[in-house]
Amino acid sequence: MSSSSGQAIDVEPLTLTRFILAEQKKHPHATGDFTALMNFIQTAVKAVSSAVRKAGIHRLFGISGVANTSGDEQKKLDVLANDLFINMLKSSYLTCLLVSEENDTTIVVEPEKQGKYIVCFDPLDGSSNIDCLVSIGSIFGVYRKADDEPVTTADALRPGTELVAAGYALYGSATMIVLSIGNGVNGNGVNGFMLDPAIGEFILTEPDIKVKPRGKIYSINEGYSQYWDQATAKYVESKKYPKSGKPYGARYIGSMVADVHRTLVYGGIFMYPATTEAPKGKLRLLYEANPMAYLVEQAGGTATTGKERILELQPTSLHERCPVFMGSKDDVQDVLDMYKKFG
Ligand code: AHM
Ligand code: MG
Repeated sequence: MSSSSGQAIDVEPLTLTRFILAEQKKHPHATGDFTALMNFIQTAVKAVSSAVRKAGIHRLFGISGVANTSGDEQKKLDVLANDLFINMLKSSYLTCLLVSEENDTTIVVEPEKQGKYIVCFDPLDGSSNIDCLVSIGSIFGVYRKADDEPVTTADALRPGTELVAAGYALYGSATMIVLSIGNGVNGNGVNGFMLDPAIGEFILTEPDIKVKPRGKIYSINEGYSQYWDQATAKYVESKKYPKSGKPYGARYIGSMVADVHRTLVYGGIFMYPATTEAPKGKLRLLYEANPMAYLVEQAGGTATTGKERILELQPTSLHERCPVFMGSKDDVQDVLDMYKKFG
């Protein structure tokens, strides 16, 4: 159908909600809780997206704790994003435990509002890029509570292999949610939904995202090269000065969501290795490395610390970190080979 201006209007848009509902119907015993949970996450993402787009105008950049002319406290964008995620997830009646990058301890949902899901999230990742209008994102991983016992912090310390879903929202030149609810081995494991601001809905625009087996881009903060281990240094050198063929291109945004999204779309490798300054790297296992590793694997790629599969790491604390190498499987294999050679 066309509007009077001649612009095509899709009269049957495949929205994120429709997509998840269709998936739910494939499982006769599904309660609809996951579909509902995703609706709450979508709403949080829409609200964060709106705040990101208006942040400069509404003075949401910079340091929190500053009162505006009305005496209201100005909230920094990442504090606001965290409040939005927490409030949406708690009020869904579908979660029992939340882990946020912004909170030192777990957030236990009030008993009368508890549901079966545990959500680990980074409400606004890429903090160094917030104030200069470079792409930032939100990351989330969803677990189902394993038993009927009262919820404790231990319920969130689960390996990524137990995730039931993971996704990110990229606040870039457009807002997009990239989501996986599994099925990557046999079918479309990862799908991308772009926010249509006109109708406020996420529309399936990137179905069945697959990362190509080899790319042409490496992505790492090269400023820290003097702190890298030998395997990382040799790997990057091999991409800059290949024995044959052309060198790889270098791209590094400094927002994990944007760097991983580019890696999924164009192929290549994203790295945040261990350094002598940060022996476990910088990125957090529960709400940065694990959800992204889940998405990359579901898209046919590989995600490793250089020595172990990220999704198989057993977390021991909420905010622990791990080295990260993820992306095209042949590119990540080159890193694994370097670790075998150089330890
Ligand atoms: P943040 O959680 O404080 O935003 O830090 C995580 C971000 C990632 O998005 C990104 O990959 C990394 O920090 C960049 O770090 P660096 O500036 O050290 O390269
Ligand atoms: Mg972060």
